[in-house]
Amino acid sequence: MTQDIVTLPEAVVPTGAKSNSRKVFIKTYGCQMNVYDSGRMSDALAGEGYEATEDMQQADLVLLNTCHIREKAADKVYSALGRLRDMKKAREAEGREFMIGVAGCVAQAEGEEILRRAPDVDVVIGPQTYHRLPQALRKARGGERVVDTDYAVEDKFEHLPDAPKRSGPRIVTAFLTVQEGCDKFCTFCVVPYTRGSEVSRPLAQIVTEAEKLVQAGAREITLLGQNVNAWHGAGQTGEDLGLGDLLYRLSEIPGLARLRYTTSHPRDMDDRLIDAHRDLRTLMPYLHLPVQSGSDRILKAMNRRHKAAEYVALVERIRTARPDIALSGDFIVGFPGETDADFEATMALVETVRYAQAYSFKYSTRPGTPGADLEDQVPEGVKAERLARLQDLLLKQQREFAESCIGKTIDLLLEKPGRMPGQLIGRSPWLQSVNVDAKTSQIGDIINVRITAAGPNSLFAEVAES
Ligand code: 5AD
Ligand code: SF4
Repeated sequence: MTQDIVTLPEAVVPTGAKSNSRKVFIKTYGCQMNVYDSGRMSDALAGEGYEATEDMQQADLVLLNTCHIREKAADKVYSALGRLRDMKKAREAEGREFMIGVAGCVAQAEGEEILRRAPDVDVVIGPQTYHRLPQALRKARGGERVVDTDYAVEDKFEHLPDAPKRSGPRIVTAFLTVQEGCDKFCTFCVVPYTRGSEVSRPLAQIVTEAEKLVQAGAREITLLGQNVNAWHGAGQTGEDLGLGDLLYRLSEIPGLARLRYTTSHPRDMDDRLIDAHRDLRTLMPYLHLPVQSGSDRILKAMNRRHKAAEYVALVERIRTARPDIALSGDFIVGFPGETDADFEATMALVETVRYAQAYSFKYSTRPGTPGADLEDQVPEGVKAERLARLQDLLLKQQREFAESCIGKTIDLLLEKPGRMPGQLIGRSPWLQSVNVDAKTSQIGDIINVRITAAGPNSLFAEVAES
């Protein structure tokens, strides 16, 4: 499985590799939920004799796990499919099987349209049906082109196998999807249409999966959901539980050192969840809490259902509960009707909140969403100017936050080998990458380090005397 944007090869050099097992190359676009889904698809395919490969040249199946959130994300899929065409032709000339599958949110949104635009695609499978991928591939092998984008009535998680034991470096940090879909219907967003309405996985299923991840070596788990803090479940006596309760429960798992969750909606930050930030040392002091805009007028047009001041007040409450918490956010500039004054309100909110990290985007029209029908679309040039100003400010805050860490002694979870020999990369409580001299055998350990310097994308540290 790979997460980077890979350039597909223009021409294909036959590898001549012969192996008994088939190989799958999965290219993941978009959010962490897709990263998690790619892992589960890989597990489902392992049962069919597919081995995952990082080398597309070796693959008998290329699966694109796609993202539909912004226009550019969807365009990338079609250009990748265009390039895969040549690869398929070359393989067919060799008499070798080569299948192409499209999974994820573009699959869900476009369905049959993908088969029409990309005649070499064999399988189109939605995010709710990927447990049926093995059947779809078998049908495709029989010559049928398959589209399976239903909202399956059965629980896909019940039908997916556990992850097989993988060789290679130990996985120290893991994702775990606890909730999918969204009922919020922000007017710019495709998620309620591609991922469907909100569904929470049951508590026991989540606890079991978390325990298995810890047994397999995970020290840190990030709970995932499009609207993760809308997670709800039932306790042993049928009482209603929320994400805060789930975090208290997962904190009891021996060996699980760190918990995180993403992505949250401000309206679902309830008292119990804020208490969890105050009480649980396992819950890392980092919160991704998108606000999108600082203008009440635009927030209303976006159907966010809260005001800017309410968001700022919420951040204050969270900071009171957990003073060292670092905030991250998402922003959209150039939503239809956004005036200079609205944009200045966003800049003012950012100045007030002070983010440690953030993602910001130009508004991108998504067909089928209410935003697409709004008049008063903002010209591209204006969007670009606003985005540049916002990103300058956010970057400055990110740098200031990183520099404020210099001299601090912190816990570092050692995750993987670094670029230099003798170096490892670890994760700070605030999700920063930190380089430190340490031995490979220490991967998975949490050590005490002192931050010595801040680079543009990572920090540097030395082991602290204890
Ligand atoms: N245009 C631009 N950005 C968008 N996002 C979601 N939909 C759009 C869109 N149509 C951004 C939001 C969201 C993040 C995942 O992507 O900021 O929080
Ligand atoms: Fe999209 Fe998030 Fe709004 Fe749901 S809450 S519609 S996922 S932006």
